[in-house]
Amino acid sequence: MAKYQPFPQVGIKNRTWPDNVITRTPIWCSVDLRDGNQALATPMNIDKKLKLFKLLVSIGIKEIEVGFPSASQIDFDFMRILIENELVPDDVWLQVLVQSREHLIKRTFESMKGAKKIILHLYNPTSTLQRKVTFNMSREQIKEIAKTGTRIVKSLASAVKGTEVRLEYSPESFSDTETDYALEICEAVMEIWEPSRENKIILNLPDTVQWTTPNVHADQIEWFIKHLKERDKAIVSLHTHNDRGTGVAATELGLLAGADRVEGTLFGNGERTGNVDLVNVALNMFANGVNHGLNLHDVPDIREVYEECTGMTVHERHPYAGDLVYTAFSGSHQDAIKKGMDLQQKKNDPDARWEVPYLPIDPKDIGRTYQAIIRINSQSGKGGVAFIMSRDFGIELPKLMHPELGEEVNKMADKLGRELSPDEVYRIFKDMYLNNHEPLELIHIHSIQYENDHDLSCEVEIEYKGDKKKIKGKGNGPISAFVHALDADGIDDFTLIDFHEHAIGKGSETEAAAYVQIELPDQSKYWGAGIDTNISFAGIKALISAYNRARG
Ligand code: KIV
Ligand code: ZN
Repeated sequence: MAKYQPFPQVGIKNRTWPDNVITRTPIWCSVDLRDGNQALATPMNIDKKLKLFKLLVSIGIKEIEVGFPSASQIDFDFMRILIENELVPDDVWLQVLVQSREHLIKRTFESMKGAKKIILHLYNPTSTLQRKVTFNMSREQIKEIAKTGTRIVKSLASAVKGTEVRLEYSPESFSDTETDYALEICEAVMEIWEPSRENKIILNLPDTVQWTTPNVHADQIEWFIKHLKERDKAIVSLHTHNDRGTGVAATELGLLAGADRVEGTLFGNGERTGNVDLVNVALNMFANGVNHGLNLHDVPDIREVYEECTGMTVHERHPYAGDLVYTAFSGSHQDAIKKGMDLQQKKNDPDARWEVPYLPIDPKDIGRTYQAIIRINSQSGKGGVAFIMSRDFGIELPKLMHPELGEEVNKMADKLGRELSPDEVYRIFKDMYLNNHEPLELIHIHSIQYENDHDLSCEVEIEYKGDKKKIKGKGNGPISAFVHALDADGIDDFTLIDFHEHAIGKGSETEAAAYVQIELPDQSKYWGAGIDTNISFAGIKALISAYNRARG
């Protein structure tokens, strides 16, 4: 295929990044209000920019690229509003992008008047493709553009009073610039700017267009860092886009390769396929126990403001933030999640190690709830149904009952061709176990009382195949007394083989649930369930339920 060619490898020997681990919190820089905004069909107005700016501040991002003031009047006005209304916290740096051209740099300085902390982000495209197609310029000429711009910024910055100005330089399209040439330009810029260890320059190395796999990006970053003369005077920054769907991966490998800073946007908004998603990168760190230093405790709220301001939507399957990412439809996943959640709860320690299959993080940690974890459709299994019964209704079904209820729920979901709500699941449970009154119906329990330390007697009014009657029996518990009463009346064609009970709720609202399994002479087995405020009555109801399921 001549139309597309393999991307050249970086000549790096003994690369170290594959053995590294991300342990350091990077410096985060949001470019939502510039790169993200530039990519919107309808760019944000001032009110929306303000709202998003406040959100970014609340998330704890300290370096915020607020616009391209020399290219956009709204961005210029936005700078003025932020500065004149003192809306920028003292520890937040406003970053402004500008091309390396004198009149644009001058206009940018006008927009900055009165600001306390500014990162002036100077850029010019440097790649072979851009040099050939867009500029028709030599390497020397392109380098000269960067040097001239730096000199202008330096002289204007030295004249500004009351504003701390830091320089960020981007060789735009770094990813398809010869790495040694990108280094040469960056070092030329550094020579003019004269950064120090205390006042470092930011060298931003954009993966402007992703042409290749993230490992090559990591090689480029590692090569650059290893060869940079005054590494200790520079902050190496990543700025990946997502053309190959690998923006997050390229950023992560770039961090392994030694970068210090990450530029990106919330949920990956940005030109074409977007910039790297900062929330995704940060929460990947979180999931590995690394401090990301941001406030991401309420991702749904962040998403709401983001969607309102940008008019973009977050996909259902978007990592961490999508509607469906804490939802399991598959039965085996539901089963495993339920087991994991139960174990996690038993640890009774909010900081206990997270060990729930299929859920890399506890949704609660980022403001999501368990509510949406299990939804019931025809693909759901018994575990999911049991989870809903427990979580939403306090019904702890014995394990052996899970399959038969699960099967009924699946049949109904199949029949309706849609997902079932928890209430619908409960209704199926009720119809199966609680609402079956034939052939045996409980009319009234007259008494259940102890005869002595071991024995109990009961007197119960029932209707059996249309006949109302009072029956009496004795046993070592209410159910066995009732079984004996039925036996005495000739209703004796079953054996009681299993029994479970538990309380539902707490305090004055407490009810009891009981589950009984009986076996018929043909060895078929049936479960029944009963719920009552009186635990003895719940047991008797459960037995009647099992009998009616067997004989109804
Ligand atoms: O993607 C890019 O290269 C940019 C530069 C202007 C930094 O956004
Ligand atoms: Zn960009």
